[in-house]
Amino acid sequence: MKDITKMNYSEFVGLIDERNRPSGGIKSVHTVAINSQLNPSKKILEIGSNTGFTSVNLSLFTGCEVVGIDANVSSIAKAEKYAIKHSVEDRVSFLNADACNLPFEDSSFDMIWCSNVTSFISDKEKAVSEYMRVLKLGGILVFIPIYYIESPSREMLGEVSEAIGVEVKVQDKHDWIELITQIAETTGFAAELFFSEDYRYLDARDDIAGYINYLMQKDEVLQFKKNEQYLIRKKAEYFYKLFNENLQHAGYSILLFQKRKMKDEVELFLSKKT
Ligand SMILES: C[S@@+](CC[C@H](N)C(=O)[O-])C[C@H]1O[C@@H](n2cnc3c(N)ncnc32)[C@H](O)[C@@H]1O
Repeated sequence: MKDITKMNYSEFVGLIDERNRPSGGIKSVHTVAINSQLNPSKKILEIGSNTGFTSVNLSLFTGCEVVGIDANVSSIAKAEKYAIKHSVEDRVSFLNADACNLPFEDSSFDMIWCSNVTSFISDKEKAVSEYMRVLKLGGILVFIPIYYIESPSREMLGEVSEAIGVEVKVQDKHDWIELITQIAETTGFAAELFFSEDYRYLDARDDIAGYINYLMQKDEVLQFKKNEQYLIRKKAEYFYKLFNENLQHAGYSILLFQKRKMKDEVELFLSKKT
């Protein structure tokens, strides 16, 4: 086992088996399920399914068949166990695969779900082209990117990049929308944005201690020796304090695009809910 004090967040999550969720957790899964009119005849692909939260909950809400893929082989068995726990293993499956080289025929899925994953992929062009290729015409591409609303300090950016093991860039919501629509166009189709909801993170500083106490009681953590449990607690305190501070500068959006033959005309009079 790698030295706990040197682990990045992905390695740490694997160690303590923390269930990875999209931004907004169950609320985001429900919002997408409602706003994309899913029914049990639809087939969904989740990119970067990790320990299976989104795939399983999406299927619980909609009855859809869901396939989750992840580049990290060790997360697959954990995701399968989670599907069995919720009795959806007959319609939710997981596969070790790369987002940049999807092992599926063209137009295989009614929805591609991708939350905080594409920022971890260096060849974003290849990944988004793959999502468009395996999505049916009229199908929905779900993106839930995290982005900065106010720029963090250079120190904070460096510390977060080191913690998650990927260089974090200061991108905003519009950068993400532009990236997706532009790459989509290169595939000969269009990604038409038809749903966009923005969120900010609440300050969780008063909840961190309680959350860590909960994690420390998990069987996966209790199996470690006392001195390792101490290091796990210290590491968790460091990560969650850092992430909470960082997320006070950030937000996320639920973005739904439809795969179409061509882009519609530009609208002038836009609106927002009051
Ligand atoms: C931060 S987690 C977030 C995933 C989560 N499902 C969510 O809802 O936000 C990123 C996941 O993407 C996976 N991942 C990173 N690069 C990938 C790639 N090229 N292909 C497939 N999965 C990838 C990682 O293994 C990890 O499980």
